[in-house]
Amino acid sequence: METTHRVFVGDSRDLASIDDESVELVVTSPPYPMIEMWDDLFTALDPAIGDALESGDGRAAFDAMHAQLDRVWDELERVLVDGGIACLNVGDATRSLDDSFRVYANHARVLEAFESRGFDPLPDVLWRKPANSAAKFMGSGMIPPNAYVTLEHEYVLVFRKGDESRSFEPGADRRYEAAYFWEERNRWFSDVWTEVRGELQTLGLDDDDLRDRSAAYPLEIPYRLICMYSAYGDTVLDPFWGTGTTTLAAMCAGRHSLGSELEAAFLERFDDRLADVPSLSRSVSQARLERHHEFVTRRREDGKGFEYEADHYETPVVTKMEQGIQLREVASIETLTDDEAEYAYRATHEPLVLE
Ligand SMILES: C[S@@+](CC[C@H](N)C(=O)[O-])C[C@H]1O[C@@H](n2cnc3c(N)ncnc32)[C@H](O)[C@@H]1O
Repeated sequence: METTHRVFVGDSRDLASIDDESVELVVTSPPYPMIEMWDDLFTALDPAIGDALESGDGRAAFDAMHAQLDRVWDELERVLVDGGIACLNVGDATRSLDDSFRVYANHARVLEAFESRGFDPLPDVLWRKPANSAAKFMGSGMIPPNAYVTLEHEYVLVFRKGDESRSFEPGADRRYEAAYFWEERNRWFSDVWTEVRGELQTLGLDDDDLRDRSAAYPLEIPYRLICMYSAYGDTVLDPFWGTGTTTLAAMCAGRHSLGSELEAAFLERFDDRLADVPSLSRSVSQARLERHHEFVTRRREDGKGFEYEADHYETPVVTKMEQGIQLREVASIETLTDDEAEYAYRATHEPLVLE
């Protein structure tokens, strides 16, 4: 099996290189309005944003920043197939402007924007990095009432384009082979994720400086979402591509991908990460099987049995739907183009076979 991966250097407010209704899944994390690290970027998109910030008008700056994101949401509405899913990782922002502290509810504004474009909201996920320091609390110490709760959660908002789910031909192999294990379903489809860094902790972006500058999310986030909301052969788009974590996850998960990113510098660094993809993809698939073996042991210790055997792996599974699971690994990656405007790669995937 082969997948292709294309990344455009450019502005996602106009995704002219991507055809109408050619994408099954969007997984992305936009720059969060009113988080200071993105002020310059938003101001470059609309200079009125800089003026609003300077004059202390937070509400106007927030609205104008979202107006820029709205143009990208219009493009997503165009390129997604009917029934396609969009997963948006977004966090709210807290900020003091003109001596007044408040929260800017990005998640609520993005939800409104998608609903008004004909997307149906689906249940969302809250995810949370492990809490670290006791010195992080804001406001007036131990005296009520003027202290503030510290925001440590982010949202994965999930939307479906239109009111009908996608349909597949009965028994479609590409869907059944992409099944996930029963215990993965229970973990992944829970509405609070706390262990996302833990699971694929050592995999992904090694360069801390690049991670800080790009606000990259952990590989586990796009990897899970791709496994949850797409089948083999589908195309996943990230219009805020950053360091390319979504493309890495799509490669590991055996899906095609498309990306678009304003900052050419991020793309130049991507080739360094590609060399690791074959071993990364193997570790990701192996880690899933190992976790499944641990689950089998625990379930047996609890005195519970299994009714089904997997077709491709020597392991029992809980449900009939898991029998066809076929994990894959990337055997090789070929660079098709890496000119200044578009990077393209072809990945060859093999079924994961354990020695
Ligand atoms: C939060 S970061 C995404 C990080 C990414 N998820 C990762 O793991 O590396 C947002 C990215 O969107 C890019 N960006 C912002 N506005 C854009 C636009 N209009 N078109 C394309 N890229 C944009 C920024 O340059 C930044 O790299």
